[in-house]
Amino acid sequence: MANNFLLLNIIIAISFCCIVFAFEPSPLQDFCVADPTSSARVNGLACKNPTSVVPNDFAFSGLHIPGNTSNPNGSRVTPVSAAQLPGLNTLGISMVRIDYAPMGINPPHTHPRATEILTVIDGSLQVGFVTSNPDNRLITKTLQKGDVFVFPVGLVHFQRNVGTKNAVAIAALSSQNPGVITVANAVFGSKPGISSDVLAKAFQVDKSVVQHIQAKF
Ligand SMILES: *[C@@H]1O[C@H](CO)[C@@H](O)[C@H](O)[C@H]1NC(C)=O
Ligand SMILES: *[C@@H]1O[C@H](CO)[C@@H](O)[C@H](O)[C@H]1NC(C)=O
Repeated sequence: MANNFLLLNIIIAISFCCIVFAFEPSPLQDFCVADPTSSARVNGLACKNPTSVVPNDFAFSGLHIPGNTSNPNGSRVTPVSAAQLPGLNTLGISMVRIDYAPMGINPPHTHPRATEILTVIDGSLQVGFVTSNPDNRLITKTLQKGDVFVFPVGLVHFQRNVGTKNAVAIAALSSQNPGVITVANAVFGSKPGISSDVLAKAFQVDKSVVQHIQAKF
């Protein structure tokens, strides 16, 4: 009995250790404003001397300004992560504004380090994510202004403007530096390119189809 109890406690302790380690470490001080001039290599960015920190280190302006959507995707992501707002360093959080032209898409992509929670400020978006192998189930929904949707960490997801006017979303992400892997760019636009033999087999198409897509990147 006592042994079982001990074992259970060990299992619980191990689970907690790994849940915690899977995310950004907790801050050990009030803040660590990023010092972009430091050459120190750390996990995140080196801290500015706290005595030289100023209010603007914790601020960002301009998120009311629509992003330019004149590009092939018809969308624009305006990030506010530690690179734009140095006070975010070590805090494990960031945000973005996303603008979409009519029919615009934010193409399938994943954030290796963050869960994303998104709300529609204007317009109407179809959003979705795909679960991991082997199910690869598509979870999708059409959102209206005021609706909120969550994209779990690491999963491939997208948004599409399904309205007739511009759409705007604001999203929060659980990392100061969520990272983005756009599936099409990573697979067909890597430098140097992945061998067309590999991609032809992976996508079950002729090599010429792969080369045609690779040429677009
Ligand atoms: C938006 O981007 C397009 C393509 O890069 C450019 O031609 C256009 O001038 C930009 N518009 C504004 C308002 O910056
Ligand atoms: C579409 O958007 C993604 C993410 O912003 C970007 O990496 C990609 O280059 C864009 N693709 C085109 C064709 O503009």
